[in-house]
Amino acid sequence: MNITFYGHACFGIEINGTHILVDPFISGNPLASEINIEEIKADYILVTHAHQDHILDVDAIAQRTGATIVSNYEIYMHYTAKELKAHPLNHGGIFKTEKFSAKYVNAIHTSSFPDGSYGGQPGGFVITAGDTSLYIAGDTAVTMDMKLIPMTTKLTASILPIGDNFTMGVADAIIASDLVECNKVIGCHFNTFPPIEIDVEEAKQQFLAKNKELNILEIGTSISI
Ligand code: NI
Ligand code: MN
Repeated sequence: MNITFYGHACFGIEINGTHILVDPFISGNPLASEINIEEIKADYILVTHAHQDHILDVDAIAQRTGATIVSNYEIYMHYTAKELKAHPLNHGGIFKTEKFSAKYVNAIHTSSFPDGSYGGQPGGFVITAGDTSLYIAGDTAVTMDMKLIPMTTKLTASILPIGDNFTMGVADAIIASDLVECNKVIGCHFNTFPPIEIDVEEAKQQFLAKNKELNILEIGTSISI
């Protein structure tokens, strides 16, 4: 599984030639100005919730690529009404393809579209391909529901928000990594806007002090797990 960071909470995940894109918010992110959304590959677009900083580029990328949008029922309805290809999930459900599965798991947050319309309940995803599993928490507080994940899945890595204010911050993300039983963390949802600016070096040290690894990817770079 090869994971590329496109800024904020947007990641591209490549599994043997299949491309999954998560929460595309690129054209509105000045930190990601080097990334051209016309060049991003996507067979599937996974959407955790309907907030603008997670869906801004869904329409453009789905239209160009013909990717299937996978999200909760309300977000599915929103995109099928625009004649985009989509698959509905609800919490606890697993979307299965030949290359990977993606389970929609609980998150504590809200979910409305930019116009205020209802975006269903927010979630995260557990993506599994062969022996590799990646937890994408989505925007969330730390929650005891995270303890359910290792009951069925041995995680290889976790993408956790660390920017505080709209989601958990570093201290709670460290607790979250305990709950999901995974010490290899990739940070997201930080530094994009002033309320979520953090000291990245200090965050890495806080994880290290608990014998955990916080990976901070430069925008446009990748990590293999
Ligand atoms: Ni949000
Ligand atoms: Mn967000």
